[in-house]
Amino acid sequence: MERISRNERACWVLVGGRQRLGRALAENLARDHDLVLTSSRPWDGETWVNDLSKTARIRTLVWNAESPELNSRMMADLESLKAEGWAISGAVLLAGTFPEHPLGTWTPDLLEATWRLNLGFPFLCAQTLAPHLVEGACLQILLDTSIHRPWLKRLPYSAAKAGLAALIPGLAQLLAPKVRVVGHALGVLLPAEGSDGAFLAERTLLKRIGEPADLARAVRYAADSPFLTGEILTLDGGRRWVDR
Ligand SMILES: NC(=O)c1ccc[n+]([C@@H]2O[C@H](COP(=O)([O-])OP(=O)(O)OC[C@H]3O[C@@H](n4cnc5c(N)ncnc54)[C@H](OP(=O)(O)O)[C@@H]3O)[C@@H](O)[C@H]2O)c1
Repeated sequence: MERISRNERACWVLVGGRQRLGRALAENLARDHDLVLTSSRPWDGETWVNDLSKTARIRTLVWNAESPELNSRMMADLESLKAEGWAISGAVLLAGTFPEHPLGTWTPDLLEATWRLNLGFPFLCAQTLAPHLVEGACLQILLDTSIHRPWLKRLPYSAAKAGLAALIPGLAQLLAPKVRVVGHALGVLLPAEGSDGAFLAERTLLKRIGEPADLARAVRYAADSPFLTGEILTLDGGRRWVDR
């Protein structure tokens, strides 16, 4: 089974692998993976990527959900990687936004923009990546615990994540048995700017918010679980079971 790259390390693609959870996951995985990291912007001045390159093979790409050339760019990049011998055995789709859009502020443009990045982009990435994933690969997509209890001031965002919740089992059926598909419905790991971490922690069963290491453990678990597919793992400290 072609599961590993030329140099015996698994090769993974992290879509949105530059900031916040994406960067934290890249730093964790680089210990034992080669990585393709995407960002919407050119990769200038990221010294942490140079540091990772000392131990892992790292390739940086620009995939911008807003670009009209997105599809052709993704296809060309993946063909180039293939030609260079990258055998991709995992992909994690992290890109998104977390916009506050209360009832009364919705407009066609705002809804389209929210759904383009948080829903359309993962759909397109999954479609383009799927034929490039090797036998036994795992495609993982980041959702939100809002699939169980929508954020009332962020219903367009919550609806996008609910759409991804339909993608997971559907894609798992379409790609089986070659590729597995797993989603992660995250509670708060890195709070949005200006939010109250202590308040958010209080609203979980475990009385804490998460941390990037919680995601890294779950992603590694999913990748290493060959009998797991079509499922969404909820990783929210029990937030969904707290009734307020
Ligand atoms: N952080 C949390 O606690 C939390 C909680 C629940 C769910 N999640 C989910 O976990 C994922 C990661 O969350 P996060 O908080 O680390 O990051 P985030 O701030 O939601 O954004 C993730 C990445 O999306 C990329 N992005 C923004 N605009 C883009 C565009 N036009 N095209 C392509 N990529 C674009 C950005 O990278 P570039 O600027 O480099 O392009 C950014 O680093 C998201 O899907 C989020 O919904 C996170």
